[in-house]
Amino acid sequence: MTAKLPSDFLWGYATASYQIEGSPDVQGRSPSIWDTFSHTPGKIKDGSNGDVATDSYRRWGEDIALLKLSGANSYRFSISWSRIIPQGGRGDLINADAIEHYGVFIETLRKNGIKPVVTLYHWDLPQALHDRYGGWLNKEEIVQDYVNYARTCFRYFGDSVKDWITHNEPWCISVLGYATGAFAPGHKGDTEHWIVAHNLLLAHAYAVKAYRDEFQASQGGQIGITLDCSWQMPYDDSPENVAAAQRSIAFKLGRFADPIYKGHYPKIVKDMIGDRLPEFTEEEISVVKGSSDFFGLNTYTTQLAMEGGDNEIQGNVKNTFTKPDGTQLGKECTSSHLDEHVAKLTTILAQRMCLGYRHILPVSARVTENGFPVKGENTLEVDKAINDTARVDYFEGYTDALLRAVNEDGVPVKGYFAWSILDNFEWADGYDTRFGVTYVDFATQRRTTKSSYDFLKKVWKRRRHSG
Ligand code: NOJ
Repeated sequence: MTAKLPSDFLWGYATASYQIEGSPDVQGRSPSIWDTFSHTPGKIKDGSNGDVATDSYRRWGEDIALLKLSGANSYRFSISWSRIIPQGGRGDLINADAIEHYGVFIETLRKNGIKPVVTLYHWDLPQALHDRYGGWLNKEEIVQDYVNYARTCFRYFGDSVKDWITHNEPWCISVLGYATGAFAPGHKGDTEHWIVAHNLLLAHAYAVKAYRDEFQASQGGQIGITLDCSWQMPYDDSPENVAAAQRSIAFKLGRFADPIYKGHYPKIVKDMIGDRLPEFTEEEISVVKGSSDFFGLNTYTTQLAMEGGDNEIQGNVKNTFTKPDGTQLGKECTSSHLDEHVAKLTTILAQRMCLGYRHILPVSARVTENGFPVKGENTLEVDKAINDTARVDYFEGYTDALLRAVNEDGVPVKGYFAWSILDNFEWADGYDTRFGVTYVDFATQRRTTKSSYDFLKKVWKRRRHSG
């Protein structure tokens, strides 16, 4: 008999506003840094942008129908800051049309038995704030503006939304946005990303404080952050590579998780970065420490980690998918390699990653994203693309390992969100990389579910708790 999931387990799909909504200037929305970036020639692989995406600001009813039929009991989506407060700041206008739009959307989800899980910031900073004072680089201004935006969302939606995520993947926001320049706003360098990361932590923490002080008692929800990390497996068992794997995790995950769960940056990060790493005041760290009700983790794959190289962002660690014997670590997809065996390992170790912090705070974990871009899927006709057996294998390995861990080992994972309910705008890859369990024909917006949609539906059905 297949063990049932705990009745409070959240399962469903995740998306983000800029990746699905389109309608960039409808109902008073202002540009975000992703509008500017994607419209800059050369930034997006296929020259595309999110102007239409999956047209979900208008077709949200179709999205809810897909979710409902999929058996999901929750949906993680993000709210667009530049719709709610188009100019972004404290004295700036709150946009009643956008409040109305998201309000109706949230109520419709709930009527269909789907819990809304809301991400406040999934990368689409109002361009106005970037232009006015440098956006995430300006601590004094951005923290207050972000808290004001968060508070607005709690006030208008908090009676219905009980699960809040402040930021999605601060590593990507800071490193890809301000070190490599691959993401908006496209800055490059070795210092800004530490400042941005620091300010993201503070904005997160003060928004959580506002929620706890002013809303949590009456609204009764939970709030936390979503971090991202691929499991770092030592290339071999040499002490240097074992240490390299740990260092890699400190640079990717620990730089955010340690301040939140332990109250300080990892020592190894401090030692290597020196005074380019901003310091928290005593008051700030007391707000940052303990500022997440759960451990949200986006995890897609495993990488082998080896000592060496001079990539400071990764703690001078090199990553590869090629094992010492020359074979590959699992099955190849567009951005990574993963097979069933590795999925099991990733799952179990990802949980350890979360649980590494458990002795400090009684947190439970949620896999807030997990998914697979089938290699070459974008070149296939729809009837071939929907037969996505490689994605089914991936989800089979991952959900099987996760559910075993929950049911048999009592690991406190309380949620799983697959990325994504439908193909969408994959940031710098444009529409070339597809992650959806539903195929989207971007010329007609026709949606066709893939085999992976049916597969996950069966998984959830078997596991649904009757109580
Ligand atoms: C990370 C991000 O949160 C999401 O926006 C992105 O599309 C997926 N993972 C896949 O890369």
